[in-house]
Amino acid sequence: MAIRTGPRNTDISNPDREGGRCADESGEKMKALAWMGKKDVRLKQASPKIVDDHDAIVRVTGTTVCGSDVHAMHGVILQVEKGDILGHEFCGVVEAVGPAVKNVVPRERVVNSFVVSCGECRYCKQKLTTACEKTNASTLHEQLYASRMGGVFGYSHFMGGYAGGQAESVRVPLADNNLMKLPHSVPDEKGLYLSDVLPTSYHSVSYTGVKKDDCVAIWGLGPIGLMACFWAFLKGTKRVIAIDNNWRTEYARSKLERLETINYTTLGGGETVPQKIHEMVPGGVDVSVDATGGEYAKGFMHKLELEIGAEQDTSEMINECIMSTRKFGTVGIIGNYAGFTNHFNVGSLMERGIKLIRCGLAPVHKYWQELLEMVEHGTVDPTIMLTHRFRLDDIAKAYQLQEKRESGLVKCFVETRFSSRRTEGTPELTRL
Ligand SMILES: NC(=O)c1ccc[n+]([C@@H]2O[C@H](COP(=O)([O-])OP(=O)(O)OC[C@H]3O[C@@H](n4cnc5c(N)ncnc54)[C@H](O)[C@@H]3O)[C@@H](O)[C@H]2O)c1
Ligand SMILES: [Zn+2]
Ligand SMILES: [Zn+2]
Repeated sequence: MAIRTGPRNTDISNPDREGGRCADESGEKMKALAWMGKKDVRLKQASPKIVDDHDAIVRVTGTTVCGSDVHAMHGVILQVEKGDILGHEFCGVVEAVGPAVKNVVPRERVVNSFVVSCGECRYCKQKLTTACEKTNASTLHEQLYASRMGGVFGYSHFMGGYAGGQAESVRVPLADNNLMKLPHSVPDEKGLYLSDVLPTSYHSVSYTGVKKDDCVAIWGLGPIGLMACFWAFLKGTKRVIAIDNNWRTEYARSKLERLETINYTTLGGGETVPQKIHEMVPGGVDVSVDATGGEYAKGFMHKLELEIGAEQDTSEMINECIMSTRKFGTVGIIGNYAGFTNHFNVGSLMERGIKLIRCGLAPVHKYWQELLEMVEHGTVDPTIMLTHRFRLDDIAKAYQLQEKRESGLVKCFVETRFSSRRTEGTPELTRL
Protein backbone atom coordinates (compact mmCIF):
# COMPACT_ATOMS: atom_id res chain seq x y z
CA MET A 1 0.00 0.00 0.00
CA ALA A 2 1.35 3.42 -0.88
CA ILE A 3 2.10 5.64 2.08
CA ARG A 4 -0.58 8.28 2.19
CA THR A 5 1.00 11.58 2.96
CA GLY A 6 0.29 15.19 2.38
CA PRO A 7 -1.24 17.80 4.58
CA ARG A 8 -4.67 16.19 4.82
CA ASN A 9 -4.33 15.24 8.46
CA THR A 10 -2.21 18.03 9.83
CA ASP A 11 -3.52 20.80 12.05
CA ILE A 12 -4.93 18.57 14.75
CA SER A 13 -2.61 19.79 17.44
CA ASN A 14 -5.55 19.63 19.76
CA PRO A 15 -7.74 16.52 19.52
CA ASP A 16 -10.69 18.53 20.80
CA ARG A 17 -10.64 20.73 17.71
CA GLU A 18 -13.37 20.32 15.15
CA GLY A 19 -15.82 18.94 17.66
CA GLY A 20 -13.44 16.25 18.87
CA ARG A 21 -13.10 14.56 15.47
CA CYS A 22 -9.64 13.38 16.39
CA ALA A 23 -10.22 12.55 20.05
CA ASP A 24 -10.45 9.07 21.50
CA GLU A 25 -14.03 8.25 22.49
CA SER A 26 -13.18 5.52 25.02
CA GLY A 27 -13.36 7.96 27.90
CA GLU A 28 -9.85 7.18 29.16
CA LYS A 29 -8.44 10.36 30.63
CA MET A 30 -4.98 11.45 29.46
CA LYS A 31 -3.11 14.55 30.53
CA ALA A 32 -1.41 16.87 28.06
CA LEU A 33 0.23 20.28 28.28
CA ALA A 34 -1.50 22.95 26.26
CA TRP A 35 -0.54 26.48 25.22
CA MET A 36 -3.25 28.74 26.61
CA GLY A 37 -1.81 32.16 25.79
CA LYS A 38 1.44 34.10 26.00
CA LYS A 39 3.47 32.77 28.97
CA ASP A 40 0.58 30.49 29.93
CA VAL A 41 0.88 26.72 29.57
CA ARG A 42 -1.40 24.34 31.47
CA LEU A 43 -2.25 20.67 31.75
CA LYS A 44 -5.56 19.55 30.34
CA GLN A 45 -7.25 16.29 29.41
CA ALA A 46 -6.74 15.14 25.83
CA SER A 47 -6.83 11.64 24.40
CA PRO A 48 -5.66 11.26 20.82
CA LYS A 49 -6.75 8.45 18.56
CA ILE A 50 -5.61 6.91 15.29
CA VAL A 51 -6.75 9.15 12.49
CA ASP A 52 -4.74 7.79 9.56
CA ASP A 53 -3.83 4.20 8.69
CA HIS A 54 -0.15 5.09 9.16
CA ASP A 55 -0.58 6.49 12.69
CA ALA A 56 0.55 5.02 15.97
CA ILE A 57 -0.53 5.97 19.46
CA VAL A 58 2.34 6.10 21.93
CA ARG A 59 2.01 6.07 25.71
CA VAL A 60 4.63 8.52 26.78
CA THR A 61 7.17 7.32 29.35
CA GLY A 62 9.50 10.29 29.08
CA THR A 63 9.38 13.82 27.77
CA THR A 64 11.21 17.07 28.46
CA VAL A 65 11.21 20.84 28.00
CA CYS A 66 13.40 22.32 25.26
CA GLY A 67 14.82 25.81 24.79
CA SER A 68 12.57 25.90 21.71
CA ASP A 69 9.49 25.32 23.91
CA VAL A 70 10.33 28.52 25.75
CA HIS A 71 10.20 30.39 22.41
CA ALA A 72 6.75 28.83 21.83
CA MET A 73 5.55 29.76 25.31
CA HIS A 74 6.65 33.34 24.68
CA GLY A 75 4.49 33.42 21.57
CA VAL A 76 7.58 34.06 19.38
CA ILE A 77 6.58 31.14 17.19
CA LEU A 78 3.81 32.01 14.78
CA GLN A 79 0.41 30.35 14.62
CA VAL A 80 0.27 28.74 18.04
CA GLU A 81 -3.39 28.44 18.97
CA LYS A 82 -5.00 28.31 22.36
CA GLY A 83 -5.36 24.65 23.36
CA ASP A 84 -2.52 23.35 21.17
CA ILE A 85 -0.62 20.51 22.83
CA LEU A 86 3.10 21.15 23.08
CA GLY A 87 6.27 19.05 23.12
CA HIS A 88 8.44 17.69 20.35
CA GLU A 89 10.67 15.32 22.33
CA PHE A 90 9.23 12.12 23.78
CA CYS A 91 9.80 8.41 24.18
CA GLY A 92 7.32 5.76 25.17
CA VAL A 93 5.65 2.47 24.45
CA VAL A 94 3.55 1.84 21.36
CA GLU A 95 -0.05 1.43 22.43
CA ALA A 96 -1.78 0.94 19.09
CA VAL A 97 -0.95 1.13 15.40
CA GLY A 98 -2.98 1.83 12.30
CA PRO A 99 -3.42 -0.99 9.75
CA ALA A 100 -0.67 0.30 7.45
CA VAL A 101 2.11 0.55 10.07
CA LYS A 102 4.83 -2.05 9.47
CA ASN A 103 7.93 -1.13 11.45
CA VAL A 104 6.60 -0.90 14.98
CA VAL A 105 4.12 -3.00 16.95
CA PRO A 106 2.31 -2.48 20.25
CA ARG A 107 4.43 -2.77 23.41
CA GLU A 108 7.66 -1.77 21.66
CA ARG A 109 9.75 1.00 23.24
CA VAL A 110 10.32 3.90 20.87
CA VAL A 111 11.59 7.45 20.61
CA ASN A 112 10.22 10.07 18.19
CA SER A 113 12.00 12.35 15.78
CA PHE A 114 10.98 15.95 16.48
CA VAL A 115 10.32 16.40 12.77
CA VAL A 116 7.40 14.68 11.05
CA SER A 117 8.86 13.07 7.93
CA CYS A 118 6.83 11.65 5.06
CA GLY A 119 9.67 9.31 4.08
CA GLU A 120 9.10 9.64 0.36
CA CYS A 121 9.58 13.21 -0.87
CA ARG A 122 12.88 14.17 -2.46
CA TYR A 123 14.21 15.65 0.79
CA CYS A 124 13.14 12.74 2.98
CA LYS A 125 14.77 10.34 0.52
CA GLN A 126 18.05 12.17 1.19
CA LYS A 127 17.29 12.10 4.93
CA LEU A 128 17.04 15.90 4.98
CA THR A 129 13.75 15.29 6.72
CA THR A 130 13.18 18.70 8.29
CA ALA A 131 12.80 19.94 4.70
CA CYS A 132 9.96 17.44 4.12
CA GLU A 133 7.60 18.74 1.48
CA LYS A 134 4.50 16.90 2.56
CA THR A 135 3.90 17.24 6.27
CA ASN A 136 3.23 20.93 6.77
CA ALA A 137 0.22 22.69 5.29
CA SER A 138 0.95 26.20 6.61
CA THR A 139 0.54 28.67 3.77
CA LEU A 140 1.93 31.43 6.00
CA HIS A 141 5.16 29.43 6.28
CA GLU A 142 5.42 29.38 2.51
CA GLN A 143 4.71 33.10 2.22
CA LEU A 144 7.33 34.09 4.77
CA TYR A 145 10.09 31.61 3.96
CA ALA A 146 9.51 30.95 0.23
CA SER A 147 8.94 27.25 0.84
CA ARG A 148 7.62 25.18 3.71
CA MET A 149 9.70 23.09 6.04
CA GLY A 150 8.35 19.77 7.34
CA GLY A 151 6.04 19.46 10.31
CA VAL A 152 7.29 19.40 13.89
CA PHE A 153 5.48 17.78 16.81
CA GLY A 154 3.84 20.16 19.26
CA TYR A 155 5.21 23.32 17.70
CA SER A 156 2.40 25.43 16.23
CA HIS A 157 0.37 25.38 13.05
CA PHE A 158 3.27 27.19 11.40
CA MET A 159 5.05 23.85 11.78
CA GLY A 160 2.19 21.64 10.65
CA GLY A 161 -0.07 21.66 13.68
CA TYR A 162 0.71 18.30 15.28
CA ALA A 163 -0.18 17.51 18.86
CA GLY A 164 2.94 17.22 20.98
CA GLY A 165 4.33 14.68 23.41
CA GLN A 166 4.32 16.64 26.67
CA ALA A 167 1.45 14.35 27.40
CA GLU A 168 0.55 10.87 28.56
CA SER A 169 -0.51 9.80 25.09
CA VAL A 170 0.42 11.12 21.65
CA ARG A 171 -0.57 10.46 18.06
CA VAL A 172 2.44 9.79 15.82
CA PRO A 173 1.63 10.32 12.16
CA LEU A 174 3.54 8.22 9.61
CA ALA A 175 4.81 6.11 12.47
CA ASP A 176 7.08 3.97 10.29
CA ASN A 177 9.17 7.06 9.58
CA ASN A 178 8.94 8.96 12.81
CA LEU A 179 9.57 6.42 15.53
CA MET A 180 12.82 4.59 16.23
CA LYS A 181 12.91 1.48 18.41
CA LEU A 182 14.96 1.69 21.58
CA PRO A 183 16.95 -1.38 22.60
CA HIS A 184 16.83 -2.64 26.22
CA SER A 185 20.36 -1.41 26.80
CA VAL A 186 19.26 2.21 26.27
CA PRO A 187 17.10 3.52 29.13
CA ASP A 188 14.55 6.27 28.56
CA GLU A 189 16.78 8.77 30.36
CA LYS A 190 19.27 8.42 27.48
CA GLY A 191 17.07 7.37 24.55
CA LEU A 192 14.73 10.34 24.88
CA TYR A 193 17.42 12.75 23.73
CA LEU A 194 17.69 11.06 20.33
CA SER A 195 14.52 12.93 19.41
CA ASP A 196 16.26 16.32 19.26
CA VAL A 197 19.25 17.34 21.38
CA LEU A 198 21.69 14.68 20.18
CA PRO A 199 20.94 14.97 16.44
CA THR A 200 20.69 18.78 16.60
CA SER A 201 23.95 19.33 18.46
CA TYR A 202 25.71 16.73 16.31
CA HIS A 203 24.39 18.37 13.16
CA SER A 204 25.73 21.76 14.29
CA VAL A 205 29.33 20.54 14.34
CA SER A 206 29.07 18.11 11.41
CA TYR A 207 27.38 20.52 9.03
CA THR A 208 29.83 23.31 9.84
CA GLY A 209 32.70 20.93 9.07
CA VAL A 210 34.41 21.04 12.46
CA LYS A 211 37.54 18.92 12.19
CA LYS A 212 40.61 17.70 14.03
CA ASP A 213 42.87 20.45 15.39
CA ASP A 214 40.28 23.20 14.83
CA CYS A 215 39.63 25.87 17.45
CA VAL A 216 35.89 26.20 17.95
CA ALA A 217 33.69 28.68 19.82
CA ILE A 218 30.10 27.94 20.79
CA TRP A 219 27.57 30.54 21.98
CA GLY A 220 25.01 29.29 24.52
CA LEU A 221 25.49 26.49 27.02
CA GLY A 222 22.00 25.09 27.08
CA PRO A 223 21.68 21.40 26.22
CA ILE A 224 22.31 22.08 22.52
CA GLY A 225 25.46 24.14 23.10
CA LEU A 226 26.81 21.79 25.78
CA MET A 227 26.41 18.72 23.60
CA ALA A 228 27.84 20.62 20.61
CA CYS A 229 30.96 21.20 22.73
CA PHE A 230 31.08 17.46 23.44
CA TRP A 231 30.86 16.59 19.74
CA ALA A 232 33.49 19.18 18.87
CA PHE A 233 35.92 17.50 21.29
CA LEU A 234 35.01 14.09 19.85
CA LYS A 235 36.04 15.41 16.42
CA GLY A 236 39.53 15.98 17.82
CA THR A 237 39.47 19.76 18.08
CA LYS A 238 42.39 21.54 19.70
CA ARG A 239 40.32 23.97 21.74
CA VAL A 240 36.64 24.58 22.43
CA ILE A 241 35.52 27.87 23.97
CA ALA A 242 31.92 28.30 25.09
CA ILE A 243 30.16 31.59 25.82
CA ASP A 244 27.19 32.19 28.11
CA ASN A 245 26.10 34.63 30.78
CA ASN A 246 25.49 32.52 33.86
CA TRP A 247 26.33 29.47 36.04
CA ARG A 248 26.03 27.19 33.04
CA THR A 249 29.67 28.03 32.18
CA GLU A 250 30.86 26.35 35.41
CA TYR A 251 28.43 23.48 34.97
CA ALA A 252 29.74 22.82 31.46
CA ARG A 253 33.36 22.88 32.62
CA SER A 254 32.49 20.37 35.34
CA LYS A 255 31.28 17.99 32.60
CA LEU A 256 33.88 18.65 29.90
CA GLU A 257 37.32 18.92 31.41
CA ARG A 258 39.12 20.67 28.54
CA LEU A 259 36.36 23.17 27.87
CA GLU A 260 37.25 26.86 28.21
CA THR A 261 34.42 29.27 28.90
CA ILE A 262 33.63 32.97 28.82
CA ASN A 263 30.91 34.34 31.07
CA TYR A 264 30.52 37.67 29.27
CA THR A 265 28.91 39.34 32.27
CA THR A 266 32.30 39.16 33.99
CA LEU A 267 34.30 40.77 31.18
CA GLY A 268 35.84 43.99 32.44
CA GLY A 269 36.54 47.40 30.91
CA GLY A 270 33.97 47.17 28.13
CA GLU A 271 35.73 44.18 26.60
CA THR A 272 33.58 42.40 24.03
CA VAL A 273 33.27 38.66 23.46
CA PRO A 274 35.10 38.82 20.08
CA GLN A 275 37.94 40.81 21.68
CA LYS A 276 38.25 38.18 24.41
CA ILE A 277 38.26 35.39 21.84
CA HIS A 278 40.96 37.10 19.75
CA GLU A 279 43.00 37.45 22.95
CA MET A 280 42.60 33.70 23.62
CA VAL A 281 43.04 32.59 19.98
CA PRO A 282 44.98 35.22 18.02
CA GLY A 283 43.37 35.72 14.62
CA GLY A 284 40.10 34.11 15.71
CA VAL A 285 38.63 30.62 15.84
CA ASP A 286 38.16 28.31 12.85
CA VAL A 287 34.47 27.68 13.50
CA SER A 288 31.86 29.54 15.56
CA VAL A 289 28.45 28.08 16.34
CA ASP A 290 25.50 30.10 17.61
CA ALA A 291 23.35 27.90 19.89
CA THR A 292 21.44 30.74 21.56
CA GLY A 293 18.36 32.08 19.76
CA GLY A 294 17.20 35.31 18.14
CA GLU A 295 14.92 36.43 20.95
CA TYR A 296 17.79 36.91 23.42
CA ALA A 297 18.74 40.51 22.74
CA LYS A 298 21.72 41.79 24.76
CA GLY A 299 21.87 45.52 24.14
CA PHE A 300 19.30 48.28 24.55
CA MET A 301 18.85 48.87 20.81
CA HIS A 302 17.87 45.32 19.95
CA LYS A 303 15.70 44.96 23.05
CA LEU A 304 13.79 48.01 21.90
CA GLU A 305 13.59 46.91 18.27
CA LEU A 306 12.31 43.47 19.27
CA GLU A 307 9.79 45.03 21.63
CA ILE A 308 8.30 47.36 19.03
CA GLY A 309 8.45 44.75 16.25
CA ALA A 310 11.11 46.61 14.23
CA GLU A 311 12.90 43.27 13.93
CA GLN A 312 12.04 39.70 14.86
CA ASP A 313 15.52 38.58 15.89
CA THR A 314 18.62 40.18 17.28
CA SER A 315 21.78 39.95 15.17
CA GLU A 316 24.10 40.40 18.15
CA MET A 317 25.21 36.81 18.66
CA ILE A 318 25.65 36.16 14.94
CA ASN A 319 27.72 39.35 14.66
CA GLU A 320 29.83 38.17 17.60
CA CYS A 321 30.32 34.83 15.86
CA ILE A 322 31.40 36.57 12.65
CA MET A 323 33.81 38.89 14.47
CA SER A 324 35.31 36.01 16.48
CA THR A 325 36.03 33.82 13.46
CA ARG A 326 39.30 33.85 11.53
CA LYS A 327 39.41 35.01 7.91
CA PHE A 328 37.79 32.42 5.63
CA GLY A 329 36.54 30.54 8.67
CA THR A 330 33.00 29.27 9.28
CA VAL A 331 30.00 30.43 11.30
CA GLY A 332 27.07 28.10 11.91
CA ILE A 333 23.62 28.98 13.28
CA ILE A 334 21.76 26.20 15.08
CA GLY A 335 19.81 28.36 17.58
CA ASN A 336 16.31 29.33 16.45
CA TYR A 337 15.75 32.51 14.42
CA ALA A 338 12.29 33.45 13.20
CA GLY A 339 12.41 36.40 10.81
CA PHE A 340 14.16 39.68 10.03
CA THR A 341 17.10 41.24 11.85
CA ASN A 342 18.76 44.66 11.93
CA HIS A 343 22.41 45.81 12.19
CA PHE A 344 23.76 42.62 10.66
CA ASN A 345 27.51 42.88 10.01
CA VAL A 346 27.42 41.83 6.39
CA GLY A 347 30.65 43.76 5.78
CA SER A 348 32.83 41.66 8.07
CA LEU A 349 31.11 38.54 6.75
CA MET A 350 31.77 39.37 3.12
CA GLU A 351 35.13 41.07 3.22
CA ARG A 352 36.74 38.42 5.42
CA GLY A 353 35.29 35.52 3.43
CA ILE A 354 33.41 33.97 6.32
CA LYS A 355 31.31 31.00 5.34
CA LEU A 356 27.91 31.44 7.01
CA ILE A 357 26.20 28.10 7.42
CA ARG A 358 22.57 28.16 8.41
CA CYS A 359 22.25 24.72 9.93
CA GLY A 360 18.47 24.75 9.60
CA LEU A 361 16.18 22.61 11.64
CA ALA A 362 18.27 19.52 12.27
CA PRO A 363 17.46 16.60 9.94
CA VAL A 364 17.15 14.03 12.71
CA HIS A 365 16.92 11.00 10.40
CA LYS A 366 20.31 11.71 8.88
CA TYR A 367 22.02 10.92 12.18
CA TRP A 368 19.50 8.87 14.18
CA GLN A 369 20.87 5.36 13.75
CA GLU A 370 24.50 6.38 14.08
CA LEU A 371 23.74 8.28 17.27
CA LEU A 372 21.72 5.43 18.76
CA GLU A 373 24.77 3.21 18.27
CA MET A 374 26.98 5.80 19.93
CA VAL A 375 24.61 5.93 22.91
CA GLU A 376 24.54 2.10 23.06
CA HIS A 377 28.32 1.85 22.97
CA GLY A 378 28.82 4.63 25.49
CA THR A 379 30.65 6.89 23.00
CA VAL A 380 28.29 9.61 24.15
CA ASP A 381 26.52 9.90 27.48
CA PRO A 382 23.53 12.24 27.08
CA THR A 383 23.07 12.32 30.85
CA ILE A 384 25.91 14.87 31.12
CA MET A 385 23.23 17.49 30.45
CA LEU A 386 20.51 15.79 32.53
CA THR A 387 20.14 17.67 35.80
CA HIS A 388 16.51 17.14 36.89
CA ARG A 389 13.61 14.70 36.89
CA PHE A 390 10.10 16.14 37.17
CA ARG A 391 6.55 14.77 37.03
CA LEU A 392 4.29 15.64 34.13
CA ASP A 393 2.04 17.25 36.75
CA ASP A 394 4.80 19.81 37.35
CA ILE A 395 5.73 20.47 33.73
CA ALA A 396 4.23 23.97 33.59
CA LYS A 397 6.51 24.91 36.51
CA ALA A 398 9.43 23.29 34.72
CA TYR A 399 8.80 25.73 31.84
CA GLN A 400 9.27 28.61 34.30
CA LEU A 401 12.59 27.19 35.51
CA GLN A 402 13.71 26.60 31.95
CA GLU A 403 12.79 30.14 31.03
CA LYS A 404 14.66 31.70 33.95
CA ARG A 405 17.52 29.16 33.80
CA GLU A 406 17.14 28.69 37.54
CA SER A 407 17.80 25.94 40.06
CA GLY A 408 20.70 24.52 38.08
CA LEU A 409 18.38 23.21 35.39
CA VAL A 410 20.09 22.32 32.12
CA LYS A 411 17.89 19.52 30.80
CA CYS A 412 15.09 17.67 32.53
CA PHE A 413 13.52 14.26 32.17
CA VAL A 414 9.76 14.45 32.73
CA GLU A 415 8.14 11.21 33.86
CA THR A 416 4.50 10.21 33.44
CA ARG A 417 2.39 7.57 35.18
CA PHE A 418 3.58 5.14 32.47
CA SER A 419 7.31 5.62 33.16
CA SER A 420 9.60 2.88 34.40
CA ARG A 421 11.54 3.25 37.63
CA ARG A 422 14.30 5.80 37.55
CA THR A 423 17.55 4.48 36.07
CA GLU A 424 20.32 4.39 38.62
CA GLY A 425 22.78 7.27 38.31
CA THR A 426 20.19 9.67 36.86
CA PRO A 427 18.67 12.55 38.88
CA GLU A 428 16.15 11.80 41.62
CA LEU A 429 12.62 13.13 41.25
CA THR A 430 12.17 16.79 42.23
CA ARG A 431 8.64 17.91 43.08
CA LEU A 432 7.89 21.49 42.17
N1 LIG B 1 17.97 23.96 14.72
C1 LIG B 1 17.31 23.04 15.39
O1 LIG B 1 16.90 22.02 14.85
C2 LIG B 1 17.07 23.24 16.85
C3 LIG B 1 16.65 22.16 17.63
C4 LIG B 1 16.51 22.35 19.01
C5 LIG B 1 16.77 23.59 19.56
N2 LIG B 1 17.12 24.62 18.75
C6 LIG B 1 17.41 25.95 19.30
O2 LIG B 1 18.71 25.95 19.82
C7 LIG B 1 18.80 26.96 20.84
C8 LIG B 1 19.39 26.32 22.09
O3 LIG B 1 18.49 25.36 22.62
P1 LIG B 1 18.64 24.92 24.13
O4 LIG B 1 17.60 23.90 24.41
O5 LIG B 1 20.06 24.61 24.43
O6 LIG B 1 18.19 26.32 24.81
P2 LIG B 1 18.50 27.06 26.17
O7 LIG B 1 17.57 28.19 26.22
O8 LIG B 1 18.53 26.08 27.30
O9 LIG B 1 19.99 27.60 25.96
C9 LIG B 1 20.32 28.81 25.37
C10 LIG B 1 21.54 29.36 26.11
O10 LIG B 1 21.98 30.54 25.45
C11 LIG B 1 22.44 31.43 26.43
N3 LIG B 1 22.52 32.78 25.90
C12 LIG B 1 21.51 33.69 25.73
N4 LIG B 1 22.01 34.82 25.21
C13 LIG B 1 23.34 34.63 25.03
C14 LIG B 1 24.39 35.44 24.50
N5 LIG B 1 24.18 36.69 24.08
N6 LIG B 1 25.63 34.91 24.44
C15 LIG B 1 25.87 33.64 24.86
N7 LIG B 1 24.91 32.83 25.39
C16 LIG B 1 23.66 33.33 25.46
C17 LIG B 1 21.45 31.28 27.57
O11 LIG B 1 21.91 31.75 28.79
C18 LIG B 1 21.24 29.75 27.55
O12 LIG B 1 22.11 29.08 28.45
C19 LIG B 1 17.39 27.49 21.03
O13 LIG B 1 17.23 28.67 20.27
C20 LIG B 1 16.53 26.38 20.44
O14 LIG B 1 15.29 26.87 19.99
C21 LIG B 1 17.29 24.47 17.42
ZN1 LIG C 1 13.81 20.39 21.37
ZN1 LIG D 1 9.06 14.22 3.08
